[in-house]
Amino acid sequence: MSQLSQKNASFAKQEKAGVFISTYGCQMNVNDSERMLSLLEMMNYTPVASPEQASLIIVNSCSIREKPVHKVHSEVGRYRKLKDRNPQLKIGVGGCVAQQEKGRLMKDVPLIDFVFGTDAIDELPEIVSKALQGENVVQTKFEHQKPYHIETLVRNPGVSTFVNITKGCDNFCTFCVVPFTRGRERSRPMSQLVDDVARLVDRGVKEVTLLGQNVNSYTSDCGARFGDLLKTLAEKTAIERIRFTTSHPKDFNRELVDIMQAYRHKIMDYIHLPFQSGNSEVLERMNRGYTREEYIEKAHMILERMPGSVLSTDIIVGFPGETRKQFEDTLSLLDEVPYESLYAFAYSPRPFTKAARFEEQLSEEEKSERLRELLDKHNEIAFKLAKKYEEKEMDVLVEEYHAENSKCFGRSTQNKSVHFKGSEDLIGKTVKVKIKEAFPVTLRGELA
Ligand code: SAH
Ligand code: SF4
Ligand code: F3S
Repeated sequence: MSQLSQKNASFAKQEKAGVFISTYGCQMNVNDSERMLSLLEMMNYTPVASPEQASLIIVNSCSIREKPVHKVHSEVGRYRKLKDRNPQLKIGVGGCVAQQEKGRLMKDVPLIDFVFGTDAIDELPEIVSKALQGENVVQTKFEHQKPYHIETLVRNPGVSTFVNITKGCDNFCTFCVVPFTRGRERSRPMSQLVDDVARLVDRGVKEVTLLGQNVNSYTSDCGARFGDLLKTLAEKTAIERIRFTTSHPKDFNRELVDIMQAYRHKIMDYIHLPFQSGNSEVLERMNRGYTREEYIEKAHMILERMPGSVLSTDIIVGFPGETRKQFEDTLSLLDEVPYESLYAFAYSPRPFTKAARFEEQLSEEEKSERLRELLDKHNEIAFKLAKKYEEKEMDVLVEEYHAENSKCFGRSTQNKSVHFKGSEDLIGKTVKVKIKEAFPVTLRGELA
C-alpha cells in the first residue's frame, strides 16, 4: 500500500456511503474529480449516479468564463431540498471557483459545508472527516514551495487515461484566470512519470494524454524538458500512444516537432495549438508572447516537418478594444492554417486579470456576432478538410463497444472519433478502419 493510501485508509468508515461529483471545465478538472473519487473510495465512499443517492456531494467548479460563481450558487441551491430531507448530507465545492472565492462561497451559501482549493485535493479525506464532525472547512492555501510529487490515481483506467505532468501556469495571459486559480507552475519529476506510465501500462492502459496548462514549459528536476519527456516515455515504457495538451505557441519549437516525427509510431500526430487572436497588436495586449507571423510560421513548420499531422486551436473573439479589422485578421488566419477543429469563445472578463480592467469592453451582442461569423467560416472549412479522409484507411485504437448497435468507437492517431461495426473483443486493440463518410469531428467507417 502506498503512503497515501495508508494515510487515507485510517479515515475509513464502516459503511459504504454514496458520493456524487459534478465536474465543470477542462480535462484537468476531469482528472482531479477522478483523483477525488479514488481518495474517497479509500474512505469507503462509492460513486453514485445522482445527487439524490448521495450523502456527500462535491461541485468541482471551473472559472474560465461567464458567471461561474453564479453556476456554483445555483447548483448548490438545487440541493437545498436534499439537505432539508437529510441533514447529514455534506456539500463541498472544489476546483477553480473554490480557489478564487475561498471562504466567501460559504458565507454567501451557508448550505456549503466545505470549500477546498486546487492544491488541497490530496487533503480531501481529512477535510471530509472534519466536515462529518460538523466543522466548516475552508482549505484554499497554495502549496507553492512543495514539490509536485504525486502519483496518478485512477480507479478503473480504461484504454486511455490522463496523466498530469505540470500544474499551475506562469504565463499570465491578460484574459486568463488560471494563474490565479491554479497557482505557480510546477512539474512532476521525469523519473516518477516514467514509473507512473509503466504502472498504467501494467493495468491495461494503451494511451496516455499528458496534461498541463503549457506542456511545452515542462522542466523536470533533473533538467529534462518536454521533448526529453516524450522521448523517454516512448523509449522506456510500453505505452502505445502518447498525446498531450495544451501546447503554447511561444514554446513550441522545431526540436519538439522532430522528436514527434521520429517517434510518430508512439507520439500522436495531433497538436492543439491555441492562437487566440490573428492580430499581433491584440496578441501583444493578451501577453501571448508571439506575433501573427511567428505563429503562422510555426504552424507551417509543423505541417511541413510532420506531413499529415492535424492542428486544432482556441480563439477568443471580442477581446477589449478588438476592432473590426483586427477581428478580420483572426478570420483570415483560418485561410492560412488548416484547422480541422477549433474552440472559439467570446471574451469574458475574469477577476484579478489585467484585461478585465482594460477600457473599450465590447458589447455582448458584438462578441456573439463575431463568434457566429467565425464559427460559420470554420464550419465550411472543416467540412472540406474532412473529405480527405474518405476512402482512406486509419489506425484506430478502440475504446468502446456498444452492443445495442454493434458499433465500436475509437480514435485515429489524429484524434478523430471513428465509429464502425465491430465486436467487444476489439476494445484496447488498434485496428485498420476504412473511412466511408467524414464529418469535421467524427468519421464513419468499416473494418478494413
Ligand atoms: N492553457 C491553455 C488554455 C487554458 S483555458 C492555453 O494557454 O492555451 C482554455 C481556453 O479558454 C483558452 O485557450 C482561451 O481560448 C479560453 N479562455 C481563457 N480565458 C478566457 C476568457 N477570459 N474569456 C474567453 N475565453 C477564455
Ligand atoms: Fe491561461 Fe495563458 Fe496560462 Fe493558458 S498559458 S492557462 S491561457 S495564462
Ligand atoms: Fe476551468 Fe480551472 Fe480548467 S478555470 S478550464 S477548471 S484550469
